[in-house]
Amino acid sequence: MPHSYSERVHNESLRAISLIANWPVVNLGVWPTPIQIVQHSRLGQLLVKRDDLARFGRGGTSGVKARKLEGFLAHVSRNRYQQVMILLANMTNLGHDIIPALTNLSVRTRLLIVNDPVLGQSQREHLFRNVAATVEFLGPSHAAGTIRLAAAALQAKMSGVRSIAVLPSPAHPSAVIGAARGLIEVVQQCQASGQALPCLVFISSAAGTTVAGFILASSVLRAAGVANIRVMAVPVVPYRVENWLPLLLYSAQRTLGLRMRMPLPDYGVLRVPRNLSYGRFDNYLEAVCARVQDTYNLVIDPIYGAKSWSAMEEYASSANLAHGNPVMFWHCGYSPDWEAFRNC
Ligand SMILES: Cc1ncc(COP(=O)(O)O)c(C=O)c1O
Repeated sequence: MPHSYSERVHNESLRAISLIANWPVVNLGVWPTPIQIVQHSRLGQLLVKRDDLARFGRGGTSGVKARKLEGFLAHVSRNRYQQVMILLANMTNLGHDIIPALTNLSVRTRLLIVNDPVLGQSQREHLFRNVAATVEFLGPSHAAGTIRLAAAALQAKMSGVRSIAVLPSPAHPSAVIGAARGLIEVVQQCQASGQALPCLVFISSAAGTTVAGFILASSVLRAAGVANIRVMAVPVVPYRVENWLPLLLYSAQRTLGLRMRMPLPDYGVLRVPRNLSYGRFDNYLEAVCARVQDTYNLVIDPIYGAKSWSAMEEYASSANLAHGNPVMFWHCGYSPDWEAFRNC
């Protein structure tokens, strides 16, 4: 008896959840990270996913990075790459966090660093002083940086070094799947503890890999009838993440080997003009960090966390979120270098 379309979507989404949860990874973080409950004046009970406690990266706070790299490094290792080349900007957590993880796999790293936000040469050298041997400093254009990355990939190919070149984040389907595991983890934690599932998750978005992973997980959880969690991306860059997401989602579904496309869930993108300059922030965002630390004892930075936190609060003022299932703030991690960008 042939199954109906909805039965096939349901069965395939259950298979997708299992594939994502069991996807091969290189262990980097300590999981699951806690879900902290705080009382927020406008949001009521607010869940905070403490990926800043994943114990990976500088200060042990690079949780979302760990999730993405767990998937990506397994891909690197499976394909026996000898070198990873990655395009990044002056403001990067990934550049610093990926090197020890790749060194453990005996893989070389090459960082191509775009001068954004623009800094003087000595400031750049200071920021990257601990990883100087892996860094090539580029000018301020991201387009020229992408061309340089393609040229470096070609050079490596001609010299016989097995290399992979990736755009920031890293923007790779294996990293999307690594991030998707985070939302599946939340559902498992809530089911195990009896905690109500979040109805809405706020997360900052730069290149969009993490958000793509969450949207993928949200779509399969919804199609399987397991959970109805809406993802709300808060961009911290000027680019439109919506334009790039379909490609990331398509490539992740292909990599998983799904037999049919999952229906795309209804996700949101909260573009707040103050937030859209990457690595730049104003006094207001610094004040948000101080207030969140004083009130909730959470340490966030003005480059990522304060942008998604303040957008969440502003959204809460216009929508009635204090009823029904709780909202979740995803604490992705912390950028130790943020003060270097104060006057950019
Ligand atoms: C602190 C923090 N928040 C959010 C993100 C999400 O970035 P992306 O959209 O590139 O996945 C990152 C980068 O991984 C980060 O370091």
